[in-house]
Amino acid sequence: MDQTMERAGNFLPRVDDNPTGGNAVDRRVVTLTAPASAAAEQYRSLYYRLERMRDLRPMKVVALTSAMPGEGKTVTSVNLALAAARANPERRILLVDADLRRGGVAATLGMRNKTGLAELLAGDCEVRDVVRRFNSTRLALIPAGVTPEDTAQVLASGRMKQFLKAVREGFDEVYIDLPPTLPFADAAILGHQADGVLMVIRANVTSGKAVHQAVESLGGAPIVGCVLNGAEVHSAPYLKNYEKK
Ligand SMILES: Nc1ncnc2c1ncn2[C@@H]1O[C@H](COP(=O)(O)OP(=O)(O)OP(=O)(O)O)[C@@H](O)[C@H]1O
Ligand SMILES: [Mg+2]
Repeated sequence: MDQTMERAGNFLPRVDDNPTGGNAVDRRVVTLTAPASAAAEQYRSLYYRLERMRDLRPMKVVALTSAMPGEGKTVTSVNLALAAARANPERRILLVDADLRRGGVAATLGMRNKTGLAELLAGDCEVRDVVRRFNSTRLALIPAGVTPEDTAQVLASGRMKQFLKAVREGFDEVYIDLPPTLPFADAAILGHQADGVLMVIRANVTSGKAVHQAVESLGGAPIVGCVLNGAEVHSAPYLKNYEKK
């Protein structure tokens, strides 16, 4: 796994710490708010690494998780999906918030988290009722919706499998924001249904032991790489040089 991690590994610099108020896109969505920044470039670079891996093996459904809460899964998923939508306007890109416990995709994009995956899996609506388009971009997204009682059970259901089958048919690339791996069963359940799993690792916060435990608890899910999030610029010197110019 070390070798594959290196192949898709990416260093994301810290992003400005002041999110804008409600109903606005979080400033950490740099792919939109600062497309020319070094951070946005790192998301594009992550996207193109995935593209190169797609030359070797088909990878339509990519899920993102991390060992612990708060490592940056949502910010990374949103930026990656937006980078994908910009890079390939002819492809149909979908971002799914499968963190039914603490879904943050809609809030990060300044959208309301009304109906979403939870309602779909409860059988209350169809895929077309929950897919929304983000502003003027080509990105389609499905928010998490209202937290159900037993999220793991809902995610392990036949409806979830049907949903993934439907979106595989309807979209070219699907990015799934998962809950953290260590505290809940959810990520392991869905990780196995993805073609590739990316592990987000918070730089200087997550221990190597936690990452190893997370990889183990994903129990053979197709982990294709890791993303080191919140790295200080000095740990990626090539960025520092460019930022000074
Ligand atoms: N590269 C970054 N630079 C600065 N702040 C960041 C960065 N990535 C994430 N953050 C901030 O860290 C916090 C956690 O990020 P995020 O919500 O993406 O994590 P998460 O892994 O999805 O969390 P959860 O486990 O709660 O779903 C947020 O306040 C986010 O804006
Ligand atoms: Mg999240």
